[in-house]
Amino acid sequence: MSNLKGQVVFVTGAGGGIGKTIAIEFAKKGASVAIADIKEELLSGTIKAIEDQGANALGLVADVTNLDSIRSALKRVVDTFGKLDVAVNNAGVVGIGSIEEIEPEEWDRVLTVNSKGVYVCTKAELEIMKPLSSGAIVNMASIAGKTGMAHLSHYVASKFAVIGFTNSIAKEVATTGITVNAICPGIVGTGMWRGEGGVSDRWKLEGETEEQSWERNKTTLIPQGVDQTPEDIAEIIIFISQAKHITGQAIAVDGGMTM
Ligand SMILES: NC(=O)c1ccc[n+]([C@@H]2O[C@H](COP(=O)([O-])OP(=O)(O)OC[C@H]3O[C@@H](n4cnc5c(N)ncnc54)[C@H](O)[C@@H]3O)[C@@H](O)[C@H]2O)c1
Repeated sequence: MSNLKGQVVFVTGAGGGIGKTIAIEFAKKGASVAIADIKEELLSGTIKAIEDQGANALGLVADVTNLDSIRSALKRVVDTFGKLDVAVNNAGVVGIGSIEEIEPEEWDRVLTVNSKGVYVCTKAELEIMKPLSSGAIVNMASIAGKTGMAHLSHYVASKFAVIGFTNSIAKEVATTGITVNAICPGIVGTGMWRGEGGVSDRWKLEGETEEQSWERNKTTLIPQGVDQTPEDIAEIIIFISQAKHITGQAIAVDGGMTM
């Protein structure tokens, strides 16, 4: 697995956070990497980081909730690199609130990006992979796709949907040479958790700073007591994308949170 030269990888939500690291780690192995993000201003940083590894890069502005947008992004990938081997459907948003606080618009926002987004991307990716009779799709779920969590009900619902969808499509395409899996990160210190508006900011106790909340949450929630890094997540994604006989799985990288 040390050399992925010749492989073409597509990563959504790769302008920052875990997606950026996934793109860089694939690039380190020699793959050509196409990245998509809804925020155009984030693309150049990831493109440079991929090219710094000596790999080919392609940056695309795309919205995972829009089938036309993703189809045209994938057309650019195939026009540029000739094929598609691995698709990592990573883009996602978090939402926090009690049932009283979650209004229908907020429910729709979270489920549209996290659940519909994975369906839209998978549909478009299979249109390319099926005629080639090969490919690997890796969908980003979460430990929130395996266990209920208070004040995250819409986020949890969106990630349970990702795992159920992944299992179903894996069965649907099982004989085609294409694998479909989900990865379930635990707690990773990206913008989703850290800084203003992140989970540790929203979960501060009275008198606590965001930093103190982050330390308390990760040490009390994770049995191993340490957070997971974006590199931890990229490592399993690269492994599973190359494993021909692993399909329909939802693998947690969570320091034991869901054991
Ligand atoms: N950070 C964690 O602890 C954690 C834990 C479990 C699962 N996850 C999942 O990992 C994935 C990445 O999370 P992250 O922590 O890197 O978050 P992040 O907020 O740092 O990055 C998410 C990226 O997705 C992009 N994005 C959002 N909506 C989009 C859309 N409609 N189309 C295209 N791009 C869009 C954003 O612009 C951003 O660059 C998400 O699916 C998240 O739910 C994260």
